[in-house]
Amino acid sequence: MSPARALALFGAGLFIGAMLVFMGMSALAQRHSVPRGTMAMMQYHLSQLRQSTRSMACEDERARQHLTRLGALATDAGPIFAQIGFDEPVFLRHREEFLAEIATALASADCDAIATRVKPISESCDACHHAVR
Ligand code: HEC
Repeated sequence: MSPARALALFGAGLFIGAMLVFMGMSALAQRHSVPRGTMAMMQYHLSQLRQSTRSMACEDERARQHLTRLGALATDAGPIFAQIGFDEPVFLRHREEFLAEIATALASADCDAIATRVKPISESCDACHHAVR
């Protein structure tokens, strides 16, 4: 084999290798896009919940809407996170605990009572993150 040909083959090999790495990486990123999107939405609804409970006229209806969304997202998180390997008991247990926090908050009599539940909810987010990430 001539040196030029060997070099060309080597170049082609590098190129194909780089392509494969790139494809693998974007497949991996795509696999994580729905779980990350789910968490981004949870982040959004938590901060909106915090805002609506802190506003002068604590907005009951709105606070409940954000709580409902958080509950639905956490429910979805089960199958969504299972796809990227989060299906061990510790993840599932933290998810149950989070859902229980949401249920407690939803059972609150009024917006001021919901306001006192925001901290435990956000602590429940952190508890899962510390346990599994
Ligand atoms: C039952 C476990 C669990 C609960 C509860 C939970 N998370 Fe997560 N969260 C995770 C895991 C696992 C990841 C890592 C996902 C990944 O690497 O793709 C994550 C990642 C995140 C991220 C980073 C996303 C990114 O782009 O990398 C944010 C922000 C986040 N969570 C916010 C929240 C908020 C806000 C709450 C509560 C309202 C919450 N999470 C509750 C398990 C949980």
